[in-house]
Amino acid sequence: MRAMQISPDDPLLLRIVDDLAVKGWSQQNIFLPEALTLELAAECHKRAVEGELAPAAVGRGPAQEIREGIRGDHIQWLEPGQAPICDRYLLLMDSLRLAMNRGLFLGLEEFECHFAMYPPGAFYLKHLDRFRDDDRRMVSAVVYLNQDWLPEHGGQLRMYLKDGVEHDVDPTGGCLVVFLSGEVPHEVLPAHRERLSLTGWFRRRGNEPF
Ligand code: OGA
Ligand code: MN
Repeated sequence: MRAMQISPDDPLLLRIVDDLAVKGWSQQNIFLPEALTLELAAECHKRAVEGELAPAAVGRGPAQEIREGIRGDHIQWLEPGQAPICDRYLLLMDSLRLAMNRGLFLGLEEFECHFAMYPPGAFYLKHLDRFRDDDRRMVSAVVYLNQDWLPEHGGQLRMYLKDGVEHDVDPTGGCLVVFLSGEVPHEVLPAHRERLSLTGWFRRRGNEPF
């Protein structure tokens, strides 16, 4: 298995940086090593079964509300030191952060992420990952944790790219999608079986708007 603390010069990371520079998004079908994917999936599933994931809210600050007609996933934010397997994932994402800072000069200082579980039937309508009053989120990164996902299971990430082009991604275990948070509208199509992921955002430092 690939060492978890990979160099920011790793060809895989350089490919992602290059894609972001050229087209504003990247898809890597084989990003997470399989063992890491399986352990993260088990951890996410366990937390879901134990009721640790809560219905996700829409908006931020005082305007936050739960609206299942907009998004139906259940989430739990990750904190460093909770579980070794999650820390390994955070280390990997930190290498990606450094690679992006070297190649794109984005000044990314933080990474926030959460487990997400879409129960059967759940979806997330078309949106941008940047809040109107808070532009700290620069790059969105989603890794999928689902074994044997078939197209008929639904749950695709649909990205709305330039010139009316739409691109769908099956949420297959180990796959990573990254995109510029302020530039790529996207949605999650209804999933017909439980859909697990880790979704995160690389942020510049800035002041809390409230
Ligand atoms: C999100 C989101 C995409 C996905 O959580 O903001 O758009 O494929 N997730 O899970
Ligand atoms: Mn999103």
